[in-house]
Amino acid sequence: MTTVAVVGGQWGDEGKGKVVDLLSEDAAHVVRCQGGANAGHTIVIGAREFKLHLVPTGILHPDVQCYLGAGVVLDMEALLTELRDLQAVGIQSEGRFWISPYTHVVMPYHKEQDARQEQRRGRTALGTTSRGIGPCYADKAHRTGFRFADVLDTAFFREQVGDTLSSDAVDSLIQHAEQLRPHLGDVEERLFLARQRGERIVFEGAQGVLLDSTFGTYPYVTSSHTCAAGVCQGAGLGPSSIDETLLVLKAYCTRVGHGPFPTEDNSIFAEDCASIREVGTTTGRTRRLGWFDAVLGRWSVQLNGADAIVLTKLDILDTLEIIKICVGYTVNGEERVRPPVTQSEWESATPTYEEWPGWQLPTVGITDPAQLPEAALAYIQRIAELCGAPVFIVSVGPARDQTLTLRPQVQEAT
Ligand code: IMP
Repeated sequence: MTTVAVVGGQWGDEGKGKVVDLLSEDAAHVVRCQGGANAGHTIVIGAREFKLHLVPTGILHPDVQCYLGAGVVLDMEALLTELRDLQAVGIQSEGRFWISPYTHVVMPYHKEQDARQEQRRGRTALGTTSRGIGPCYADKAHRTGFRFADVLDTAFFREQVGDTLSSDAVDSLIQHAEQLRPHLGDVEERLFLARQRGERIVFEGAQGVLLDSTFGTYPYVTSSHTCAAGVCQGAGLGPSSIDETLLVLKAYCTRVGHGPFPTEDNSIFAEDCASIREVGTTTGRTRRLGWFDAVLGRWSVQLNGADAIVLTKLDILDTLEIIKICVGYTVNGEERVRPPVTQSEWESATPTYEEWPGWQLPTVGITDPAQLPEAALAYIQRIAELCGAPVFIVSVGPARDQTLTLRPQVQEAT
């Protein structure tokens, strides 16, 4: 399998960063294909913690080439800060980090529009990350946006942007673009050739399927295609370019921002959100918590054509006596095993739960599947069965080595 897409199967924050980091060890290329500085990955390597928003996780591996594909929306200022922060800890991006000329640039007015729209929505605000993501993608669709190459075409840019922005703001955007010019690259050609040479490419998804602008919990979604299908469009490659799709699911559910969350139960854990690392990397907001939702897990497997599941943060469930899994909903008095579509149906969706005994033993740091408590293995197997895909990898802690590879065990059971 030379190319692998890693996509989030819930509402983002599933721990994709760690998974991509692990897969980057034997990769030659890592590509972000959609989203923007709304994403946030926290990666722990030894005693160091890295917070990445736009730069692909592969940057932490010196021999990996990294890319922002055409489907990404580019906040130049945020990116420059991130690159400077990486440089400060000795991580170089020169000659190994490339931005597609087709990426659309997030303008200062996109952030203002984002804030205004949220304010106007009042009680029905989406809870966006305020990074201007929606307005930037809207301008792209309206054909009124500016791509990275357009901002670098300075005379054209000055003329087109007219008096929408102050001359200081225009100067500052051009300055940022010039600072990033060394990273302008023919991303599409580079990836096409890498694929032809059979080099390993990892596509790093951002957000999660339930935030997909088409299939997510609309309108409480982001503005990009977060499913595996978005990878090809965002990287400029054809559909046959993905050899394997890994769906990352957390062993329970979380959500930041507003919108439907049928299994929400913020009293599951005795610890606070900070202790279980459930505070947003980008916005610092605490995440809403809930039980694993297998209705949505199955939907995500289906929408992505997922080959396998990566189950993360299993260790967070270690102390629980009973663990619930949602296996269906009652919607307006009717039993369903498919996700609702309309907002009123989502509001009425009451989960049907299966209850599983907790293992009440520490799993943190277990690397041999044979050491997993039986109840933990049973929980993993039930998730595989309900979602319709085998669980290949289980994460039991934030560090690289707190990971279990389960391929044979769970495959036999599904
Ligand atoms: P936007 O992408 O900033 O427009 O926000 C739209 C919705 O997606 C909000 O509910 C955000 O909290 C959520 N969101 C956006 N990016 C992420 C992410 O990387 N992780 C989790 N939620 C996200």
